[in-house]
Amino acid sequence: MEGDDVAYLEAARTVDDRAHSDAATAAFRAALRGADRDAGGGGSDGANGDDAGGDDDDSDGVRVLEAGAGTCGLLRRLLADGALPTGEWVAVDTDGRVLTAGRDRLRAEATEAGYGVEPEGSTILLDAPDGDATLRVRFERGDVREVAADHDGDFDGVVARSFADLLAPAEVLALLRAAAPDGWYHLPLTFDGETRFSPSHPVDDAVVEAFHGTMRNRGRAATLLSERFREAGSPPAVDARADWVVQGDGTGGYPADEATFLRVVLDTVVASVEELGAVPDGTLADWRETREAQLARGELRYVAGNRDLFGRVP
Ligand SMILES: C[S@@+](CC[C@H](N)C(=O)[O-])C[C@H]1O[C@@H](n2cnc3c(N)ncnc32)[C@H](O)[C@@H]1O
Repeated sequence: MEGDDVAYLEAARTVDDRAHSDAATAAFRAALRGADRDAGGGGSDGANGDDAGGDDDDSDGVRVLEAGAGTCGLLRRLLADGALPTGEWVAVDTDGRVLTAGRDRLRAEATEAGYGVEPEGSTILLDAPDGDATLRVRFERGDVREVAADHDGDFDGVVARSFADLLAPAEVLALLRAAAPDGWYHLPLTFDGETRFSPSHPVDDAVVEAFHGTMRNRGRAATLLSERFREAGSPPAVDARADWVVQGDGTGGYPADEATFLRVVLDTVVASVEELGAVPDGTLADWRETREAQLARGELRYVAGNRDLFGRVP
């Protein structure tokens, strides 16, 4: 989706929080804890023993590669819920600006939560307030496909939120080779080719059809990935709906900064459809005007069909 800038990603946080399926979140957090428990034994030793970017002293615990980390919303959610793991986390994004914003916010929120925060170049160490658990977070600007290719089997798990739909399924499977053979993947909020706006507008079908037509496989990323995992003999342990649902708060506005989120969604849809040229300019302009007026009045409702996938790497 276009507009993947700091304001958009921050505005998405409350929408993301509501969308996550409990089942996938529980499986993900259990995997983070399980690797902690097995540190020095099963889970972490399942990796090939190479350090995923840190010193040996900090290799205990879980080792996670996060693809397209953005403003570190996932890590910040774990922090807020008291669920940060022990171990090592490599957060990769092509956009240095969002990654820097994410690092700064993570540092500030961890400090606020009583963590010891030690910067070490492109890494920060987060020392839990109540003990000796430490999470080493390394921030790496770059294409995660290249980063993953350099870390074959180094990680216990690979996580990518609102990201897997940006790549071809084969590229996602290649990315997961960064996890050890007994490792896991967590692909929450993977788009699955459904977009709905309401109240209805006469050209919704044409606009949405054209929008999906600009995407690889019409945006059915979660379905295709799930099929590929099944074919590879490793169906997802969790494959659950995790739709984004944004609607007015009943007072003419939207919760938190969700009006900003919706504005970027509208801009993205219009820009994609314009580029394709599948809807006449005047018709598209009318659709946009109507939707923007509804947004300004807090009347526009939006649903995007996503799924949370969690499982063992094939
Ligand atoms: C929709 S955002 C999701 C951000 C974050 N995961 C979240 O849930 O808040 C997708 C992110 O992936 C990044 N991105 C896109 N292609 C990438 C690639 N090939 N390698 C690394 N990051 C990429 C973008 O810069 C953007 O920050």
